[in-house]
Amino acid sequence: MTTPPQTTIRPRERDALLQSLRSGVVPRMGQQHVQVGRVNEVKALLSDINRINDGGSGSRFIVGDYGSGKTFFLHIVRSIAMQQKLVTVHADLYPDRRLHATGGQARSLYAELMRNMATRAKPDGGAMPSIVERFVSQALTESRDTGAPVESIIRRNLSELSELTGGYDFAEVIAKYWQGHDTDNEQLKSDAVRWLRGEFSTRTDARAALGVRTIIDDSNFYDQLKLLARFVRLAGFGGILICLDEMVNLYKLANSQARNSNYEQILRILNDSTQGSAAGLGFIFGGTPDFLLDPRRGLYSYAALQSRLEENSYAVDGLVDYSGPVLRLTSLTPEDFYVLLTKLRHVQAAGDESAYLISDEGITQYMNHCAQRIGDAYFRTPRNTIKGFLDLLAVLEQNPDRVWEDLITSINLERESNPDLAPLNTATDSSPAPARPRGFLPELQPAEDRQAMSDTDDELSAFKL
Ligand SMILES: Nc1ncnc2c1ncn2[C@@H]1O[C@H](COP(=O)(O)OP(=O)(O)OP(=O)(O)O)[C@@H](O)[C@H]1O
Ligand SMILES: [Mg+2]
Repeated sequence: MTTPPQTTIRPRERDALLQSLRSGVVPRMGQQHVQVGRVNEVKALLSDINRINDGGSGSRFIVGDYGSGKTFFLHIVRSIAMQQKLVTVHADLYPDRRLHATGGQARSLYAELMRNMATRAKPDGGAMPSIVERFVSQALTESRDTGAPVESIIRRNLSELSELTGGYDFAEVIAKYWQGHDTDNEQLKSDAVRWLRGEFSTRTDARAALGVRTIIDDSNFYDQLKLLARFVRLAGFGGILICLDEMVNLYKLANSQARNSNYEQILRILNDSTQGSAAGLGFIFGGTPDFLLDPRRGLYSYAALQSRLEENSYAVDGLVDYSGPVLRLTSLTPEDFYVLLTKLRHVQAAGDESAYLISDEGITQYMNHCAQRIGDAYFRTPRNTIKGFLDLLAVLEQNPDRVWEDLITSINLERESNPDLAPLNTATDSSPAPARPRGFLPELQPAEDRQAMSDTDDELSAFKL
């Protein structure tokens, strides 16, 4: 069994990590301190990231059972993408946030993605203004070097966008940002950013503020993402990675027409990325096996998707293929889980080995206890067993007169139940299924978390496979 890395962990980072894990949420920062396994999956995604950086594209479906680590994996991939000079955006799908809609739900997904737009320098989101600013300052530098007027440099650089659907207005909005920059008009700059973030809800307002006739809405959701991918490349990034989690919310759409339009959008995305026609644009989708395989409601219910997403029939009996669009997350092993617990112990002790509250023997005993209580699920879907372990450490820390031997067997553990298995509303009306939408978790002390994140900027570069 492996020993944990001897790294120190900053107190704020430690607290944020522990707090997220104890509430069953994937931590927003510092995942590298607890990450185990997934080496091949990470390598596969790294090759996608490199391809996107080279102006290519790619789409992957990360499929795993309830609680198997999809969200965690998406977070890891996102940190690597940022480190490799991609812009990232991410969002959970939700009944009100979809890839295709006519009642504002696609715009709502777009706006959520833009709020979460992140770069290595701005890992906690809100990166749009700095990206536009970077584009403008590059033009300023070029103008200084060549003597050409800034505006004409900007227009020339943006000319390639005009070939794309919606590119003309997109370029106009960027030009307005430059005007605002040039004339110290903060309002104009912020209106341009608001437009790019999909925050204008009427064309009239957009026209009054920026002189453009269009806004980002349901009908141009995907075209805007393609434009954005080109634009971030012009601003000096490699491209954009779009991470969409909780795809099961599409499977849960009761209205089959609404579901199929969303699947058609996915087909478009997949076709573009296999044909390489979306430069610098990558997608990763996180979903449960039902979302993929269910013949009535899953992606497989859409024939064209089924044929594209069918798994390699030779990759059975322990043989693997990481090159297809579907990446099955294998479950963590007991060995992985052991390493994970040693890492948690290390984080809890803020990296100070002499402050460990439990011995290796204690960790093994804890695993035995979990195995007895809930069987295999303890390492396959580790959310509750991670939480139980951290609860144990918290009690040990605050009650120094107690030792782990006293407490292990009294920890109450429950096997997790998958809310997606709750019966779906099969009515054909357009209302969403009643089950609680997944991935809708309360934010955890965002201010503190954000602070801790900005302190860890440079730690992304320390991330190791
Ligand atoms: N590779 C890993 N290394 C360390 N911890 C992990 C790893 N994968 C998952 N975890 C932890 O396991 C728990 C469950 O992971 P996660 O929430 O990512 O699962 P999920 O598949 O997204 O679940 P759901 O189906 O509920 O969305 C979390 O506490 C997460 O931090
Ligand atoms: Mg998840």
